[in-house]
Amino acid sequence: MTALLEVRSLGIRFGGLQAVDSFHCRLNQGEIGGIIGPNGAGKTTIFNMLTGIYPPTAGEIFFRGENLVGRPIHGFTEHGIARTFQNIRLFKELSALDNIKIARHMKVKYGFFPGLFRTEAVSRRENELEEECLSILERLSLAQYARHKASGLPYGVQRRLEIARALATSPELLLLDEPAAGMNPQEVDQLSKTILWIRDEFKVTILLIEHHMQLVMGVCDHVTVVSFGKLLAEGKPDEVKVNPVVVEAYLGKGGKF
Ligand SMILES: Nc1ncnc2c1ncn2[C@@H]1O[C@H](COP(=O)(O)OP(=O)(O)OP(=O)(O)O)[C@@H](O)[C@H]1O
Ligand SMILES: [Mg+2]
Repeated sequence: MTALLEVRSLGIRFGGLQAVDSFHCRLNQGEIGGIIGPNGAGKTTIFNMLTGIYPPTAGEIFFRGENLVGRPIHGFTEHGIARTFQNIRLFKELSALDNIKIARHMKVKYGFFPGLFRTEAVSRRENELEEECLSILERLSLAQYARHKASGLPYGVQRRLEIARALATSPELLLLDEPAAGMNPQEVDQLSKTILWIRDEFKVTILLIEHHMQLVMGVCDHVTVVSFGKLLAEGKPDEVKVNPVVVEAYLGKGGKF
């Protein structure tokens, strides 16, 4: 079976720093993969390469068997890869609904002239767009915030809105960069359930970066461990958490997940 995502020997160098070296991973449709590792290990940099922000200096990113390396950023979005950011990056002055609309717009193409003259077809399409965006908000229990400015929303709601925004591009692969950052244990627990629900409800494959081991071990089918840019270990969560190399590198001698 062709994997949805197959990354081979991926690497990037920033000046003298080999930020990521020979990273690989493979995800089949519907799976949830996790990337863990200490601060500065290169996790976000991997996402930046998987979304076309940084062109890798080595390796391949096969998506449905097609190598995306060398494509522009929108090429990655059009192929169905969407992400959230470690630090929330919403348009803070816009409403929750407008944040979703902007993302969704990337999927809608009017062509130049119809867009210029606002034909009936364009107005109809805009109404449909609004309905679709409201429906996404509704499915993520965000409908009540549709007309609220993003900056005024509680932190946890902003995080959920970021996920909704990524889903608005109808991705096949959803990349979540530390979705549980700043959350308390109850919120993390709820997020674990939400992630599993999103996978089923939106039929997406998910790759997530997380420091919360409880979440990683609870939702991931497969975990990859990176440290100083290098792949340290990989396997099922239960295998990875007892791997002595991982325990030592990640938690220090005598550490426990
Ligand atoms: N654009 C860049 N130019 C130079 N160095 C960079 C750039 N982006 C990342 N780095 C460096 O690459 C390394 C990996 O950074 P990255 O943000 O990927 O780590 P991370 O694993 O996501 O860490 P954290 O858990 O703290 O988010 C770091 O040393 C960082 O300073
Ligand atoms: Mg990071």
